[in-house]
Amino acid sequence: MSTPTQPASGTTAVGAAGDRAGAGSGTGKADQATLSVTDNRTGRTYELPIDDGTVRAMDLRQIKTDPDDFGLMAYDPAYTNTASCRSAITFIDGEAGILQHRGYPIEQLCEHSSYLEVAYLIIKGELPTKTQLEDWVHEITIHTFVHENVKEFMQGFRYDANPMGMLVASVGGLSTFYPEANRIHDVEVRDMEIIRLLAKMPTLAAFAFRHNMGQPYVYPDNDLAYAGNFLSMMYKMTELKYEPDPRLERALDVLFILHADHEQNASTSAVRSVGSTQVDPYSAVAAGVAALYGPLHGGANEAALRMLRRIGSVENIPSFLDGVKAGEERLMGFGHRVYKNYDPRARIIQKHLDAVFEVRGKSPLLEVATELEKRALDDDYFTSRKLYPNVDFYSGLIYEALGLPVAMFPVMFAIGRTSGWIAQWLEMVEDSEQKIARPRQIYTGGRDRDYVPIDQRQSA
Ligand code: CMC
Repeated sequence: MSTPTQPASGTTAVGAAGDRAGAGSGTGKADQATLSVTDNRTGRTYELPIDDGTVRAMDLRQIKTDPDDFGLMAYDPAYTNTASCRSAITFIDGEAGILQHRGYPIEQLCEHSSYLEVAYLIIKGELPTKTQLEDWVHEITIHTFVHENVKEFMQGFRYDANPMGMLVASVGGLSTFYPEANRIHDVEVRDMEIIRLLAKMPTLAAFAFRHNMGQPYVYPDNDLAYAGNFLSMMYKMTELKYEPDPRLERALDVLFILHADHEQNASTSAVRSVGSTQVDPYSAVAAGVAALYGPLHGGANEAALRMLRRIGSVENIPSFLDGVKAGEERLMGFGHRVYKNYDPRARIIQKHLDAVFEVRGKSPLLEVATELEKRALDDDYFTSRKLYPNVDFYSGLIYEALGLPVAMFPVMFAIGRTSGWIAQWLEMVEDSEQKIARPRQIYTGGRDRDYVPIDQRQSA
């Protein structure tokens, strides 16, 4: 902890990050981006450097009332205004409704790319050459099988186990099959675990689905592409070879692309936080799956579909919207912490609905969803609050058309997001500025109390 020096002028120089641009002199030169802060408790003024639109929380620590004072901290429950890392993976402009991975717009990736190519881009930073992509796809394809003991472990779950709970446990359990995975600074080992995670996630997800359905698990078919193999593991019955419908396969691949990464959301922050302890990547990704399990995150697609089912038909929309506006409930699949415009992912999903319905028959809920969206976007309550459809408004309709129970919806999200979790974990492991994540607190409890023997205690 550095003690502030008090220049004659009463302006205190920045100490904590004195080697960075804008810091050091404490005089706040005109060409430097700085923030002048006056502490009205002491009358001292401090110059804090501004880099990339941020001030360093640690620069606040020098602001003290006296040398014994711990120093000022930033209080930010839920990290709503705290950047926890530098990242070159995903760019979002929520006001303009823009999403880009490594600089490439999501619309172009969904139009021209495949999920595994996007995974390569997100994890490695650049689009692969033809040979690099072939090698990448081959490596992932030949690692789709899991150890038979993993299968037995999954069979031990109760017959009606939630597939997301099974996924949390089984992906975490993989660390016991690959104990070398804790050598996170060994690049070769790390690359192998990345391949394994991408390859085995759909296998674990499909086993969880089959378990939930009371059906035998289906082994991977390495003749099929990533999404096609997943469909085979989910739906193959007595046929010798499952042949996925190319329209369903493509729609699913696009859904995986759409969920690939979304910068520092709750599950990604969980992966980074747990990963910052230098634990193996399977355990870190298990934390991501656990965070995604919650209804405010990966569970919103399920809630949106249940809402559409409850509304049932177009005539019921006005009374439903009245209830939302009266604050009785929320319009699920609408609104976003970051997007204050149409979520670009929702627009892309809409385009693929027709292809899926062509194969599976049109869902009567589509009419309810489109009319609900239209009326909400005509309504001042929603437009004034900048509430637009998000990725979850339409994704449930595709999953439902694919014959998935709602409990599987977050699992589908987790398969796609695995590439983002890995990329963010890798970026963190290689970032020399990162340390073990360890927030501070404002302590609000009692102090220095003497232990009371049990026979002398009063109930509170
Ligand atoms: N329906 C009705 N009113 C809403 C909704 C909604 N879906 N979302 C926000 N509002 C209102 C809210 O009541 C508040 O109004 P007021 O200013 O009068 O109090 C205003 O809009 C601002 O809302 P907020 O709760 O402060 O916004 P937030 O940024 O904290 O919440 C959200 C973001 C996504 C949690 C929220 O919009 C929501 O609950 N949406 C429905 C759930 C949902 O679709 N979640 C999926 C998010 S996308 C997938 C993912 O990234 O995980």
